[in-house]
Amino acid sequence: MNKVENSFLNKSQFGQDFLWGVSTAAFQIEGAHDADGKGSSIWDVFTSQKGKIKNGHHAITACDFYNSYETDISLIKELNIPNFRFSISWPRIMPTGTHPVNQAGIDYYNKIIDALLAQGIEPWVTLYHWDLPHALEEKGGWTNRESVSWFSEYVEICATHFGDRVKNWMVINEPSVFTGAGYFLGIHAPGKKGITNYLKAMHHVTMATAAGGKILRNKIPDANIGTTFSSTHIEPATTSQKDVEAAKRVDTLLNRTFIEPLLGLGYPQGDLPVLKKLNSYIAPDDLENIAFDFDFIGLQCYTREVVKSSLIIPYIGAELISAEKRNVIATDMGWEVYPPALYHVLKRFNEYDGIKKIIITENGAAFPDTVKNGKVHDIKRTHYIQDHLEQILKAKEDGLNVDGYFVWTLTDNFEWAEGYNARFGLIHVDFETQKRTIKNSGFWLKDFLS
Ligand code: NOJ
Repeated sequence: MNKVENSFLNKSQFGQDFLWGVSTAAFQIEGAHDADGKGSSIWDVFTSQKGKIKNGHHAITACDFYNSYETDISLIKELNIPNFRFSISWPRIMPTGTHPVNQAGIDYYNKIIDALLAQGIEPWVTLYHWDLPHALEEKGGWTNRESVSWFSEYVEICATHFGDRVKNWMVINEPSVFTGAGYFLGIHAPGKKGITNYLKAMHHVTMATAAGGKILRNKIPDANIGTTFSSTHIEPATTSQKDVEAAKRVDTLLNRTFIEPLLGLGYPQGDLPVLKKLNSYIAPDDLENIAFDFDFIGLQCYTREVVKSSLIIPYIGAELISAEKRNVIATDMGWEVYPPALYHVLKRFNEYDGIKKIIITENGAAFPDTVKNGKVHDIKRTHYIQDHLEQILKAKEDGLNVDGYFVWTLTDNFEWAEGYNARFGLIHVDFETQKRTIKNSGFWLKDFLS
């Protein structure tokens, strides 16, 4: 008997109020890149440039969720998943980033929200999952301080149109990842590089996160307002002082820099000196305005990183030792499979007094799934999910705060610079035909949630 059948996990162990869900993002699933008046996003532009995405993949059609949302929502229902997290594409709603509003975009999200509610599935909306309107990038995108007002205008529109039915909101998704990859390394849209672009984007995105939270609170008094962060358990490669200090700098950058100002703690400049360069962009009242008491914090945890000191790496003086070099089991993303990371991350974020609730808004794994005789035997994904759920139970037993778990993701989709090669779905997609096949992990979850 394999472990799947043997699993001792039972939904009731997590408590009645524990939230179960599945997460997605507009650009990764919708396709319909220019349908019904939608404007271009920075990802539409980035994916059209040569050499940016593995195998030249793009997301012109992606999973065609734009047209097949009814089928996919029925699949969510079939898997007994009660909460669905999706994002709104800003350029679908506001093609140039600011007014005028594209009514067809509003109509589309109204249809999604209504279809979910009709099936008894609770909508969880992310306002920004990386697809900035390209028209705004032409004005500097997140490096322009005006981005805070552009974003605020967009949030007002979403709150006005959807706030009567959507009660669960996440303002910004994984700011450390999209600013780091998109504005420092240039490997994600908009492909900008360098410390100046990065620090400006960091500060403006953080300001926009607080501004968005405040608008939602104002316009939708009964809203449950959160924002999501990438969170990674960091360990030094050795106990040497230089590796321990390098690990501390990486931990500061990846886990603390974006959340601490929102909690009213300011930027952790003491533990990461390069952040002092932010001071030239911080206006007198900024830090006060950035503090916002979110109802919940979404944590997205996939792995741990092992860090060694490296003087040749600018600003951070540290290097990550890949899972491959460490010879440990990894997913198709090259990320080590290390479930205790989730426990450590929960323990860590529980130490912040300012966090009221924590929900795991993403966790999942990419493996090379294939359909054989109409079935996908993705045993590794099922184990991955089970093993992470066990870590959540351990955290709960230790009295740590954790209120929900959302799997990344519903269907295989467009995994950013990795294209379609990294399959994270509970449901397999044949991208030639758009055929959906529920994987065994999906069936396991369905049983578990029944
Ligand atoms: C984080 C991001 O929010 C999501 O867009 C991405 O696909 C997953 N993690 C997996 O990399």
